[in-house]
Amino acid sequence: MAATLIDGKALAAKLKQEVRAGAEALPRKPGLAVILVGDNPASRVYVTSKRKDCEECGFYSEEYALPASTSRKELLDLVAGLNGRTDIDGILVQLPLPRGLDEREVLLAIDPAKDVDCFHPYNVGQLTIGAPLFQPCTPGGVMEMLQEYGIDPAGKRCVVLGRSNIVGKPMALLLLHAHGTVVMCHSKTPDLKELAASADILVSAVGKTGLVTADMVKEGAVVIDVAMNRNEAGKLCGDVCFAEAAEKAAYITPVPGGVGPMTRAMLMKNTLTAAKLHQGVKS
Ligand code: GUN
Repeated sequence: MAATLIDGKALAAKLKQEVRAGAEALPRKPGLAVILVGDNPASRVYVTSKRKDCEECGFYSEEYALPASTSRKELLDLVAGLNGRTDIDGILVQLPLPRGLDEREVLLAIDPAKDVDCFHPYNVGQLTIGAPLFQPCTPGGVMEMLQEYGIDPAGKRCVVLGRSNIVGKPMALLLLHAHGTVVMCHSKTPDLKELAASADILVSAVGKTGLVTADMVKEGAVVIDVAMNRNEAGKLCGDVCFAEAAEKAAYITPVPGGVGPMTRAMLMKNTLTAAKLHQGVKS
């Protein structure tokens, strides 16, 4: 393998240590409420790991595991109650929500100062103009990794595969704010292979195993794999054909152990930011 491995696990551990130190310096523990509606098994795993992260960072946490039959009013009432609590700094509603519940309505109900996912339209707007209260967790984690490894997007050609609200769009904005020249590709992009192969920094967030083959990686590129897929054998993998891409890339993230742990660490960082905001402590 020619590429340097970007170790998200190690960097996330370091970030969480810093967050813990920040939390210990506050008059009151940061508090995070996580709401899970329904029984999506992947969501269940995410929520459990968030609880562990809170313990590790010395946070107070609450978890609400609600049945898929939860009504719109019950969910909105829960969010409204958490908005009013002084011991809760961050509110996270795990997505996707079961059919019948309107994600946009629920995200809009969260107090923007407690929106540690950075999904509320107010925070998305702030992000767009380059002044966000919080960093969107996954793209923010990617930016931390680039910084740690001395990779500056300024003047680089950055190609983002995928245009989701959670990853693709905010990723493109963060790279743009870091002065990258950003190209966004999606399922209707005809020349996706050629565009990917032109990238100095390639970020894949599509969710399709085997999508990024070696011919789509420029010699010396930085390859960031955001996806969390399972292959036929049930093994966790990303979008990138890792072994062949690593032969050409200068830097590459593994799956697992790359972007995933950074997303979780960024949630802790955002919760600390929210706690500072609520306690009148400067960030
Ligand atoms: N579902 C998948 N990723 C995320 C995330 O980052 N936040 C929330 N709330 N739900 C998700």
